[in-house]
Amino acid sequence: MSTGAAVRVEQVSKSFGRVSALRELSLIVDPGEAIAITGRSGSGKSTLLSLIGGLEQPDSGRVLIDGRAIWSGPHPARARRELVGFVFQRHLLLEALSARANVEVPLIGAGLRHSERRHRALGLLEEVGLAERAEHLPSELSGGERQRVAVARALANEPRLLLADEPTGALDTGTSERVLDLLFRLRDDRGMTMLVVSYDRVVGARADRTVTLADGHLVRAPDASDTPDPSDAPDTTDTLNPDDTDPAHTSTTNTPDPSASNPSDSHPSDTNPSDVPDPGLHAPKAL
Ligand SMILES: Nc1ncnc2c1ncn2[C@@H]1O[C@H](COP(=O)(O)OP(=O)(O)OP(=O)(O)O)[C@@H](O)[C@H]1O
Ligand SMILES: [Mg+2]
Repeated sequence: MSTGAAVRVEQVSKSFGRVSALRELSLIVDPGEAIAITGRSGSGKSTLLSLIGGLEQPDSGRVLIDGRAIWSGPHPARARRELVGFVFQRHLLLEALSARANVEVPLIGAGLRHSERRHRALGLLEEVGLAERAEHLPSELSGGERQRVAVARALANEPRLLLADEPTGALDTGTSERVLDLLFRLRDDRGMTMLVVSYDRVVGARADRTVTLADGHLVRAPDASDTPDPSDAPDTTDTLNPDDTDPAHTSTTNTPDPSASNPSDSHPSDTNPSDVPDPGLHAPKAL
């Protein structure tokens, strides 16, 4: 089983012209952790995934994978191919290629013989329940089947980090559940780290934790842990893992406040930076 990548986003900012998509956002993801990312439209979710996956460069701050700034290193494209799998809302399959050939695409240039590529692609299609449809074109498959091909393609390079941006946004409820089942089962089998942007409650329930973005910040819904009990203080400072005290690492929502994992249920006050601690404003820890 591959080991999931550790991800560390340190005070990252990104603007597009006059639009600030991310503002000094920090986030720590442990190896093998599955994180649901929620937040209103335009809050910066896709931008965050693009930065984590090395598709975009931050204006300031940095993204570390396993402690290294590989996206600003000499071979970012190769690093990306070896490390990351992407699943997007729209599957973006190549229409002229069969399901199998689509799954093989990320393996081109990976130094595998054609027979090995083919073998691996067929194995993945079997894993996503589409062995029988390997030679079919995307136009011959249903939306859910196409999305499962996209999941197989994302896994072709055996990624240690899977980034999924609204992977079920274009699917009906039943098909969504099947695709999500598949993603989380593969996460469990492979131990990869997974970040899933989704409004789906199933994702929030199955992820290890949920983080919510608002206006380019990471926000934390107020909960009991925000009101420290003075009598606990001496114990916790002695025993807590430093990571656990870092808001960028602490679970932001999930239980006990399920409403915060669904942006449509949240109130404006939930996402007002003046009401909630802003993890982005904390200095990053020394590595
Ligand atoms: N390439 C770009 N050029 C200009 N503005 C951009 C670009 N990419 C993102 N933005 C802006 O940055 C902000 C954050 O966008 P982002 O796509 O990250 O939001 P999101 O949370 O993924 O939204 P949605 O839920 O609608 O997908 C938005 O205001 C968006 O318009
Ligand atoms: Mg988006």
